[in-house]
Amino acid sequence: MNTAAPAIPTATIHPLWLRITHWINALSVVIMILSGWRIYNASPIFPFSFPREWTLGGWLGGALQWHFAAMWLLALNGLAYLALNLLTGRARRKFFPLRPKEVARDMLLALKGRLQHASLADYNAVQKLAYLSVIADLALIVLSGLAIWKSVQLPFLREVMGGYDNARVVHFFAMSFLVLFIAVHVAMVAMVPRTLLAMLRGR
Ligand code: HEM
Repeated sequence: MNTAAPAIPTATIHPLWLRITHWINALSVVIMILSGWRIYNASPIFPFSFPREWTLGGWLGGALQWHFAAMWLLALNGLAYLALNLLTGRARRKFFPLRPKEVARDMLLALKGRLQHASLADYNAVQKLAYLSVIADLALIVLSGLAIWKSVQLPFLREVMGGYDNARVVHFFAMSFLVLFIAVHVAMVAMVPRTLLAMLRGR
């Protein structure tokens, strides 16, 4: 006699670990950016500063403490996200194959406002490219940040970044890309609110 319970079709779109790491990442990224702007203001590399009200930490010392605290959250959570994605094979399933032809086609459809997101379980080619780009960008942010923070202890990393001063420029532009990604990402989520429900509830 077969006593096994009948298989219940499960509609989980985002597993719990993915949702937890996504929201921890979003929180730590926002803290890093706002405190980073306060740190930048103490010694700007371009002829402008960020409005004080947009920054976190109050003063340079406070902002550094926020930045270093959130740095551990970002790096450890990012490592967990990468490890789980690679070990479960999810990264391969979700983000690949990624063909330039499909990116061009989906980009065109997106610009015409006709890009569909019918199945929340599958990313279109533009999403795949955007998510892979922001993951690479976050890795670059962490590495350039390490080159600035420990420039004497990590000479190889410092030199790869083109020296201490250049590492600050790399860090700044990687942050700028991240801010652009967040603006577009949140706008896209607002256009398809069902995706937010799935990222909260998993289903
Ligand atoms: C602040 C920095 C953020 C970063 C770096 C970020 C990054 C990402 C990445 C890489 C993915 C794909 C994850 C995967 O499948 O492995 C993703 C998905 C998603 N994110 Fe974010 N995210 C951020 C903030 C937000 C915010 C504030 C919201 C909500 C307003 C949001 C809502 C979503 C949703 C709904 C998805 C699933 C998209 C879909 O199914 O089409 N994210 N995000």
